[in-house]
Amino acid sequence: MLLTATRSAQAAAAGLAVQAEAKGLYYGAAVSAEHLQEQAFGDAVVRECDVVVPENALKWGATESRRGVPNYSDADQIAAFAATNHKRMRGHTLAWYRTTPGWLAAALTEPRGIEVLYSHIDAVVSRFRGRIFEWDVVNEAIEPKDNLDGGLRNTAYYKAGGEAYIAECFARAHAADPDARLVYNEYGLEYDSGNSERRRKATLQLLERLKARGAPVHGLGIQSHIKLGNPIDERRYAAFLRDVAGLGLTIRLTEFDVDDSDLTTAAPYRDAAVASYARQLLDIALDQPAVIGLMSWGLTDRYNWLDSASPRTDGDHHRSLPLDANYNRTPLWNAISQSLAAAPARSPR
Ligand code: XIL
Repeated sequence: MLLTATRSAQAAAAGLAVQAEAKGLYYGAAVSAEHLQEQAFGDAVVRECDVVVPENALKWGATESRRGVPNYSDADQIAAFAATNHKRMRGHTLAWYRTTPGWLAAALTEPRGIEVLYSHIDAVVSRFRGRIFEWDVVNEAIEPKDNLDGGLRNTAYYKAGGEAYIAECFARAHAADPDARLVYNEYGLEYDSGNSERRRKATLQLLERLKARGAPVHGLGIQSHIKLGNPIDERRYAAFLRDVAGLGLTIRLTEFDVDDSDLTTAAPYRDAAVASYARQLLDIALDQPAVIGLMSWGLTDRYNWLDSASPRTDGDHHRSLPLDANYNRTPLWNAISQSLAAAPARSPR
């Protein structure tokens, strides 16, 4: 009886975006043009989100699979959905070493090959100028295991342009849309492990160097793909958020989800574990006033990237998102809602 009452109260509650907005935060989710065509999916986005993020549609491999032949059809559909429904659109992502077109590797090794990246940024950011309020400009440029100075990742961009490519990407994006907020996006920053600690340190130092060079970087995106079983380093994670905020940067969790691959118990136990782990992270993150946004990487377990990226050995679907496969709100939805309720209010940015 009590459980039924709780469930119906949950079903009737305002969407996450409304709850987030009450605290000066924004809430959104990664979407695809294909799924937005499904009525139930579109309705769920309208109900829960005030921001949409193309999950793949703006990646270079999607927009220019043939050199010089841009294709923005999926991104345009998502932008149209956002405009029609009065949602904002986040851009993801301009300089990532993955999901790149097949022709890129050779192009980057040509003389001044790095210019091809800058031209890509000019083209995409100016095309969506005024329609994308915030861009993940550079994504995943850090990998301490690659043993480069500064813990940078040894990507084809780095090989072509050295560290300077990162600042130049921000400069180009800023020139193409001076009103867009520009974000550096990274993962693996929350755990109690040597690896996470090296990643936190390298990320903070990269942001410090970018600021020192006067690069137009406005904030940090923390992907927040967290995996159950990895202990969160509450103290160091909170200190990291404070340090980033201390640089005058805003922070948003950009790709939040909880990988439950290693949990083999029945669904209700998995849901409870996912929810309490999520709550642990979100309570720390949302307590920091520089954290201004939260995006889930997908909205419903019906379409969950983890099912292919990190398949469960029992063949079951992941239960990592705020709506289940039938668009019902999950215990994770509740955890997000409660964490938003507990968060201090901040002025919207
Ligand atoms: C993932 C998408 O969800 C998948 O559909 C695609 O096949 C690969 O990329 N970090 C990121 C995202 O920054 O762009 C990735 O998205 C997930 C990891």
